[in-house]
Amino acid sequence: MRRGLSLLLTPLMTTALLAATPVAQAAPEPGCPWVGSDAPVEEKVGQVLSRMTLDEKLGLVHGAAGPFEFVGPTYAGLVPAIPRLCIPQLGLSDGPAGVGNSHTGVTQLPAPLALAASWDRELAAEYGGVIAREVLGKGANVVLGPTVDLLRDPRAGRAFETLGEDPHLVGELAAAQVGGIQDAGALAQAKHLAAYNQETLRNTPADNAVVDERTLQEIYLAPVQDTVDAGVASVMCGYNRLNGVHACNNSYLLNQVLKGQFGFDGFVTSDWFATQASYAAANAGMDLQMPGGCLFGPRLRFGVATGAVPTARLDDMVSRILRPMFRHGLFDRPATGSPDDIVTTPENAGVARRVAERGMVLLKNDDAVLPIQNRRSIAVLGEAAGSGVIGSGGGSPHVIARSIVTPFDGIARRADQDGVEVRFDAGRHADEVAAESDLAVVVVGKWSTESKDNKDIALSAQDNGLIEKVAAANPNTVVVLNTGGPVAMPWLDDVAGVVASWYPGQEYGAALASVLFGDAEPSGRLPVTFPAELADLPTSDPARFPGGRYDEGLAVGYRWYDREGIEPLFPFGHGLSYTTFAYSDLRTDGDTVTVNVTNTGRRAGTEVAQLYVGRPNTGGEPPKRLEGFQRVTLRPGETRQVRFELDERSLAHWDTGSHRWVRAAGDHTLAVGGSSRDLPLSIAVHVPDTTAVSEPTPAPPPGAPAGGDGTLTTLGNVLTCPTEMLYAGAVGAISLVGLPPGKQAEITPVNPSAGG
Ligand code: NOJ
Repeated sequence: MRRGLSLLLTPLMTTALLAATPVAQAAPEPGCPWVGSDAPVEEKVGQVLSRMTLDEKLGLVHGAAGPFEFVGPTYAGLVPAIPRLCIPQLGLSDGPAGVGNSHTGVTQLPAPLALAASWDRELAAEYGGVIAREVLGKGANVVLGPTVDLLRDPRAGRAFETLGEDPHLVGELAAAQVGGIQDAGALAQAKHLAAYNQETLRNTPADNAVVDERTLQEIYLAPVQDTVDAGVASVMCGYNRLNGVHACNNSYLLNQVLKGQFGFDGFVTSDWFATQASYAAANAGMDLQMPGGCLFGPRLRFGVATGAVPTARLDDMVSRILRPMFRHGLFDRPATGSPDDIVTTPENAGVARRVAERGMVLLKNDDAVLPIQNRRSIAVLGEAAGSGVIGSGGGSPHVIARSIVTPFDGIARRADQDGVEVRFDAGRHADEVAAESDLAVVVVGKWSTESKDNKDIALSAQDNGLIEKVAAANPNTVVVLNTGGPVAMPWLDDVAGVVASWYPGQEYGAALASVLFGDAEPSGRLPVTFPAELADLPTSDPARFPGGRYDEGLAVGYRWYDREGIEPLFPFGHGLSYTTFAYSDLRTDGDTVTVNVTNTGRRAGTEVAQLYVGRPNTGGEPPKRLEGFQRVTLRPGETRQVRFELDERSLAHWDTGSHRWVRAAGDHTLAVGGSSRDLPLSIAVHVPDTTAVSEPTPAPPPGAPAGGDGTLTTLGNVLTCPTEMLYAGAVGAISLVGLPPGKQAEITPVNPSAGG
């Protein structure tokens, strides 16, 4: 008994002792020769590292938030500068849809899911550029994005923050965004590694994603690899456990796959209060604790002192942080921005508008109800067209606009140019106003937020009722969905048109009006399947969502509907245009696929040509997967050749026998068209022999250790860092109630005055 107690006390007392030891101030480094130097990055990293004291090293591997702070001072996270060595501070700012963390004077971009619906790599790079410039303008230098989590279930609170349900689409757009962020001089942080797809009880043992090795590699990790290939500076480990081991102390995930298999040489940051171990997290490959620093401060100091964490590992952690700081010029460019600066610009607002426009998906357009032409009066209906507008979803991706162009504002302004009368009603007299107008636009919304999953995919009964009564009053009814993802549409047969506008950011109304009036051709395509009903979801079984059993395996999104033969309401890749397209002359030489696309209609338009690959002998596998896409803009009658490049993964699968990517012998089918369910052309590629196309990454053996700290170390953690442990639990508890919604704009959106 006494021995047990002394064993428990020893590490704690030593920790206190080490923490209390007076620290001799190191002398200032004259001139910091690594600043402005052309020496190779590794040499500069070595120069700095060799001069750092233990205190300085430990100071660099965690954030500066105090024990009672939920975020860091000023930004979501802050690692203080070390002036003696000219190491600048790291300011970590949310997030993936613009500057978050309640900052003002920023551009509210459309949600990442809206960007994904544009299927536009260049636009993704521009989007990243806007975020980076504004983050730098606020004096921070790390963008907490892009989000590379997949949209596994549309009820997920953060579905709007994803780039959709397909790993290829997510990976391509996230990689482009990383390029845009880092070209602008900030560091990108891809998040959250890995299989973090729900909010329910996150950061608790109940939040455990049980995923088989092949599914993990092909579906959930492949987009992370794409961002690593694009040079992403950092990666955030998530709140969830993966196969029983917490993501932030999961050595398979961090050491073996991310750093080994993918060759990632930057730093791994914990999500906020997701550090659940000290020594084990450091040894498993986590490099930077956020937002505070007890586990990687006093506890890591003790771990290094006792040899539980090798000194070489601490040096590696520090080097991984310094490396991208040198690579992206953070040492050479003094920070000039400040949190109070207004950083939004007309140019950035222009990008927000383009993304909103290109991300809008025309789902249904019976009898060419759109574009709006030759109408004398329009009814704009629903609270979501005015005061209830949702520009940005909730939680860390929430961005406050200066003001939002509401759907009513945008439509009224545009209609005015044509002398068309526009009237508004929030709901009560909507059917009367609709009956007196040539065309009715009903706008409905559904709120989603980080911290809480939604219970269903239904609109409110009130909104469904509003749509029904307007549709009964006017056959030319167009529904605009202002939602964070797919919703059920029980009224679909009764309306003429449907537009998915997602959470479209501050330029919403202007973008919507351009699409409705045909000034912009609708070119958005669904980055996610719209199911007919909840029961059709691959994850409708509660054991899967939020239970965490990923036994739908590879059958995520359209792969499920294809494999199970379920008719979706609207398939992945779907989106109408005001013109029509035809495909011809599909060819391949095994490396490149080409196809001709012709605009067969009478208006200019943009098609998103999509390439899907089917494997030989699929034995229960989903029939096909996206492996290429290209936007092509065509004049009426114009034909252009579209080209898709295949890479080593395009025809490969993850072989669990040899733990690597393998190209299987046999006929692989290449199918091309305008959506996952509209593929008019296909061709076969014959692969003569089965070949490995990557090095192996052995999986953890069955029954591998759970990955956390040992009992004694855990006790030491709890007793030394009680507030961090408390907050870790609070992250899970919040998911029971959710976070309060932040405000949408500095100038509160309003309904138009009576009569509109
Ligand atoms: C928690 C979120 O999961 C993460 O995405 C975000 O970057 C941090 N909080 C910081 O706000």
